[in-house]
Amino acid sequence: MSRTAAQVRSDFLEYFRTRAGHAVVPSSPVVPHHDPTLLFTNAGMNQFKDVFLGTGTRPYKRAVDTQKCIRAGGKHNDLEDVGKDTYHHTFFEMLGNWSFGDYFKKEAIDWAWDLLTNIWKLDPLRLHATYFEGDAAEKLEPDTEARDLWLRYLPKERIHPGNKKDNFWEMGDSGPCGPCSEIHFDATPGKDGGKLVNAGDPRVIEIWNLVFIQFNRAPGTGKLSPLPAKHVDTGMGFERITRVIQGKTSNYDTDLWMPIFAAIEEISGAKAYRGKLDDHVDIAYRVIADHIGCLTFAITDGARPSNEGRGYVLRRILRRAVRHAHQTLGVKGPMLCKLVPSV
Ligand code: ALA
Repeated sequence: MSRTAAQVRSDFLEYFRTRAGHAVVPSSPVVPHHDPTLLFTNAGMNQFKDVFLGTGTRPYKRAVDTQKCIRAGGKHNDLEDVGKDTYHHTFFEMLGNWSFGDYFKKEAIDWAWDLLTNIWKLDPLRLHATYFEGDAAEKLEPDTEARDLWLRYLPKERIHPGNKKDNFWEMGDSGPCGPCSEIHFDATPGKDGGKLVNAGDPRVIEIWNLVFIQFNRAPGTGKLSPLPAKHVDTGMGFERITRVIQGKTSNYDTDLWMPIFAAIEEISGAKAYRGKLDDHVDIAYRVIADHIGCLTFAITDGARPSNEGRGYVLRRILRRAVRHAHQTLGVKGPMLCKLVPSV
């Protein structure tokens, strides 16, 4: 089934709006102006932190959105992978659905499965799920409830336990958190990529994370305490699911990146992008395309490259993009500003 990226985005929003009564809400800025614990918005749930903590409310109990995210500093940082691989970005969109003290694990899992296999018609034999195996030091039990819910759809060989690093989601050093259950897509020819789940192999990638928010980690002490209510926080990598639905092996081979690559080629006069992982020119295309997206959204949302904190992260990203443009593609003079319309 081939869908444009724009269709994939609206499929997601419409599914949760029409099937399950979610309010469609706007993304918050990538600059978390009101949260000093974060450099950048790193997940869809950031804007709802107060609701999870019980200190704020919204006029709805279910929400769906696509959130602009930057993972280039702090706890979630993918900067070093950008350009070298096919599926990490500093800037990306996270498709998410939320329950604020309303539905919980069963509905979250049922709707995820329905959307992936019945609406988008992904091959169920290529889907794997993970669940939290527990953590004795934190006195956290294994999430056998999530495992058992998945057993209604998947054989046990394709349901994998995972440790705190992969299956207990936290937005930063403090804040709302909880066990999570990830959905991975196996693109290996033989559909036998089970051993590659969470192994850093591009053939088997995480596409969707279902987090069951139940705790708050206190700043300073790091102590976990139960929240007043249980919530659902999901995040699907928009660029990744688009790639899967379009049957590509790289996020950069989808229609999301083509206009930016076309602009880079036209402005630099470099040879066309060929998608090779070890080719310096292709790496430069990926780095520049990723970084100009990150810079455009960050600056538009109120950040500025500078010599400290968030601004310094942006300055490093800016320098790296400029270096690739000048050194690898041989561009003389300014280039990045000319790419903004393609973003
Ligand atoms: N907050 C979760 C994540 O970012 C969904 O993976």
